[in-house]
Amino acid sequence: MKWPANVQIKEVGPRDGLQNEKAFLSTEDKIHLINLMSRTGLNYIEITSFVNPKWIPALSDSLEVAKRIERVPGVTYAALVPNLRGLDKAIEADIEEVSVFMSSSETHNQKNINKSIGDTFPVLKEVVQEAQMAGKNVRGYISTVFGCPYEGKVSVNNVIQVADKLLEMGIREISLGDTIGAASPKQVQIILENLLKRYPIDKFAMHFHDTRGTALANVLMSLEMGITTFDSSAGGLGGCPYAPGASGNVATEDLLYMLHQMGIQTGINEEKQLEAAQFIQERIGRALPSRSLQVFTGRPAPTVNEGGE
Ligand code: HMG
Ligand code: MG
Repeated sequence: MKWPANVQIKEVGPRDGLQNEKAFLSTEDKIHLINLMSRTGLNYIEITSFVNPKWIPALSDSLEVAKRIERVPGVTYAALVPNLRGLDKAIEADIEEVSVFMSSSETHNQKNINKSIGDTFPVLKEVVQEAQMAGKNVRGYISTVFGCPYEGKVSVNNVIQVADKLLEMGIREISLGDTIGAASPKQVQIILENLLKRYPIDKFAMHFHDTRGTALANVLMSLEMGITTFDSSAGGLGGCPYAPGASGNVATEDLLYMLHQMGIQTGINEEKQLEAAQFIQERIGRALPSRSLQVFTGRPAPTVNEGGE
């Protein structure tokens, strides 16, 4: 099997991870988390989103967080923006890369950003143009690529139509979102095979949620297909509040463990990443899904069968 020698991990925990938390994590804690992450060797952290705070109250302090974190040279600090209003704030906060986002299914797009897919393109086009004029790189997410919480199966043609438009706008990298963690490796293979007939592999990153425990299997299939960029979240936090049933992203620590054990380099120190995940777990006050974090914190204790059966 041919695997890449290096993989880039884009940590999305402070954004995707925290946007779904019911309890408001303090601004100080968010800043501390990002500062810890900045010292793990990660070179990309999506730190927040500049969306309507009524839609995502958990990140309503985005401007303050972005302004007050320590910026470590070599780390790209990115944020999600839905429109020009969000872009203006991202520029004010000196964000280096912005991510626009939309869905490949009509209903999720409508529920998440209050627009049809057709009406979203002109909004994003304007954002991309303005962002580029301001010297910002733009990334694009396509959600519900592997299934929609409202419509079920999503046709690969829908994904291709959205990808076509985003790439035409000048977006450099598309992150393919398994928003509700529904993908299987077979589906990953089919969708990537279809996309790779049209575009080079380096246009894509994968963004797996782990709702059904298939995320690492999907990562492995993506690696075999030649993908070298993956989004993940500290502790396995995450989920889209407008995608019922969605749970966290693949945990950064579990992804690191698997990649490093396979001899694939990431440049990230596993122990430091575990410390950042442990910090956020303590602040959130419940066990997070990351298996490696559970091992690191000694919980749950391994079960020893002393009964002889
Ligand atoms: P809207 O209500 O249609 O917006 O929301 P509007 O343009 O009609 O404006 C209404 C009000 O919102 C106005 O304020 C605007 O100023 C304000 P008012 O006059 O009523 O006081 N507004 C804003 N305020 C702050 N920042 C802004 C902004 N824009 C408008 N940027 C909108 C449309 C897109 C803004 C809204 O639907 C929204 O914020 N949605 C965000 C939902 C979201 O963040 N979802 C989670 C992220 S996506 C995700 O998790 C998936 C992903 O991880 C990939 C995957 O897993 O698949 C990326
Ligand atoms: Mg997500």
